[in-house]
Amino acid sequence: MWTGLGLLLALCVLSRGRAESQGKSTRCKEPPTWYIGEENPMLESRGKVTVVALLQASSFYIILYVSRMDDLHLKLENEGLVNISYMIVNHQGEYSQHKHNLLKQRVSEFIPVYKQDMEKPNVWNLLNGNKDDFLIYDRCGRLVYHLGLPYSVLHFPYMEEAIRIAFCETRCGNCSFTVKDINEICNRTENTDEPVEEPPPTSVPDPPQQNPQHHGAHRHHRQHGHQ
Ligand SMILES: *[C@@H]1O[C@H](CO)[C@@H](O)[C@H](O)[C@H]1NC(C)=O
Ligand SMILES: *[C@@H]1O[C@H](CO)[C@@H](O)[C@H](O)[C@H]1NC(C)=O
Ligand SMILES: *[C@@H]1O[C@H](CO)[C@@H](O)[C@H](O)[C@H]1NC(C)=O
Repeated sequence: MWTGLGLLLALCVLSRGRAESQGKSTRCKEPPTWYIGEENPMLESRGKVTVVALLQASSFYIILYVSRMDDLHLKLENEGLVNISYMIVNHQGEYSQHKHNLLKQRVSEFIPVYKQDMEKPNVWNLLNGNKDDFLIYDRCGRLVYHLGLPYSVLHFPYMEEAIRIAFCETRCGNCSFTVKDINEICNRTENTDEPVEEPPPTSVPDPPQQNPQHHGAHRHHRQHGHQ
């Protein structure tokens, strides 16, 4: 199954730890409304699983690595996990704003990169987020996961797992935007890693033999005994 227990635990522990350190749980809650200019990106993504990345364009590493978001987007889309909204909110600082286009050039048109207004409230603060955090919302805009480092590193499977969970499961309860198709999609992806066939009875190993040298003879003898 794609929901490995260890992974799930890691995800749960992280999001709970975060919530506790903030004094109140933001899990399964909608975030405060935030704007980029006149735009309300969360409202525009309503009805879709939404992945919000808080990235700082000033870091050379981030600029190199951000194209992995496109890779993940394509990978999941090929598996049928479509209609997911991905977006990046750049850091509000002056230097990051200055480097904004570098970040933007690194991702495809499918992933908007939002430049914060210096005069408006800092979106990262509104979301209780830090650099390199990813926030994953369900179709009703409720926070399912808030992943920070090291879990948000896209080389690791956590992000992908968390998106799958937000897409396939109802961690924050039902949402009327969920389409029927997801059962089929999620069944399919669930089965890809899992051997579904039971091993045929003949491949069940013999019980350990006391003397391996006599193994063949012993088995031959036993088969005769059954005839
Ligand atoms: C994706 O969006 C299209 C168009 O709104 C819709 O017909 C389709 O059912 C959606 N699929 C999923 C898996 O959300
Ligand atoms: C959620 O949806 C499932 C399947 O449609 C339904 O069986 C269940 O009763 C719903 N739960 C709530 C709390 O509405
Ligand atoms: C998904 O899997 C469950 C259990 O394996 C099965 O009952 C259900 O019919 C499957 N749904 C689809 C759409 O294939």
